[in-house]
Amino acid sequence: MQIITILATLAAVALSAAVNSRPILDDDNTTQLPLIIWHGLGDDFERDGMKELAFLADTVNPGTHVHIIRLADTGNGDRQATFFGNVTEQIELVCEQLAADPILSSAPAVNALGFSQGGQFLRGYIERCNNPPVRNLVTFGSQHNGISEFQSCSIGDWLCNGAEALLRSGRWTNFAQSHVVPAQYFRDPTELDAYLENSNFLADINNERKVKNATYKKHLQSLNLFAMYIFDEDTVTIPKESALFAEVNATDGTVTPLQERRIYKEDWLGLKKLDDQGKLHFKSAPGQHMQLTKKLLKKTLKEYFGPVQDEDNASLPRLVAQPGY
Ligand SMILES: *[C@@H]1O[C@H](CO)[C@@H](O)[C@H](O)[C@H]1NC(C)=O
Ligand SMILES: *[C@@H]1O[C@H](CO)[C@@H](O)[C@H](O)[C@H]1NC(C)=O
Ligand SMILES: *[C@@H]1O[C@H](CO)[C@@H](O)[C@H](O)[C@H]1NC(C)=O
Ligand SMILES: *[C@@H]1O[C@H](CO)[C@@H](O)[C@H](O)[C@H]1NC(C)=O
Ligand SMILES: *[C@@H]1O[C@H](CO)[C@@H](O)[C@H](O)[C@H]1NC(C)=O
Repeated sequence: MQIITILATLAAVALSAAVNSRPILDDDNTTQLPLIIWHGLGDDFERDGMKELAFLADTVNPGTHVHIIRLADTGNGDRQATFFGNVTEQIELVCEQLAADPILSSAPAVNALGFSQGGQFLRGYIERCNNPPVRNLVTFGSQHNGISEFQSCSIGDWLCNGAEALLRSGRWTNFAQSHVVPAQYFRDPTELDAYLENSNFLADINNERKVKNATYKKHLQSLNLFAMYIFDEDTVTIPKESALFAEVNATDGTVTPLQERRIYKEDWLGLKKLDDQGKLHFKSAPGQHMQLTKKLLKKTLKEYFGPVQDEDNASLPRLVAQPGY
């Protein structure tokens, strides 16, 4: 009896290993790509919510291998890294982590889901590395055009309060730009010069400086779909319209949508090209920042991260990629 149980367990392990070691090409000729998830500020890879999400992904799209991006081996360390660190180095670490993962690196492509700041960091991963290449990217409440105010922390959250104190005292200092994560995507339109000069992350990744990086554009416009969600009642991200890459004038409240901005019109990032091809989706969700319902998550998983038909192979980046991918 005991032996049978052990054998059955071993068989199950072997089976799941075989199933998970490659993207599945099943009988109906579809491939289920892995899903990478980058969580937001104050969260960590060990949270129950992350595990539930991984489970949900596999329920909606059976065979989905889920990888939760982590910046440390422990939940505490991972949470701390959402507040403190040099984002350039964090993205380099993630590039190494994903490229070294046997399952992800042998997949033709991966899908990507970013929550809050994890969304713009995934975009950074795509622009700078994209190996393994991302097929569909979905971001929820991300700060694609930065924040112009820092969030208020809850009382007793010393990590958050510590980061905020550092921010208030000198957001453009070299210290803040290399150590405090939200400072690296701070962008106030009334302080544009200081931003362009000092921003360690966002000004670079948004190709806002004089010299544009052609690789960033090439990688981003290789996406099959890029969907951005804004939370209608978001009071955490200021301004909330940053989630859709829009710019807000804090004095008179004018919102300039992405399509009316130079970053789009001059296509610094390939967003216009994606939009022209119907690959850029502007979406909204009801409620406060990151108040995601299971229903919306399921819908997103189905809509963006489902199995890929074989005929779609041509749109899997790695199969049409230039040498070097
Ligand atoms: C899957 O592909 C093979 C080889 O191209 C083909 O013979 C088979 O009919 C396909 N199966 C389905 C269900 O489309
Ligand atoms: C552009 O970005 C790529 C990828 O990060 C990098 O290898 C390259 O050096 C950058 N080019 C310039 C001109 O900064
Ligand atoms: C962040 O790290 C990168 C890579 O190590 C380094 O080149 C850069 O100077 C750092 N940024 C700041 C603001 O110190
Ligand atoms: C914001 O709006 C005010 C009032 O309309 C205007 O004076 C100011 O120039 C605008 N700021 C920016 C950065 O466009
Ligand atoms: C799609 O990719 C699979 C796996 O690489 C391959 O077996 C299949 O022939 C490809 N289908 C097409 C239509 O190119």
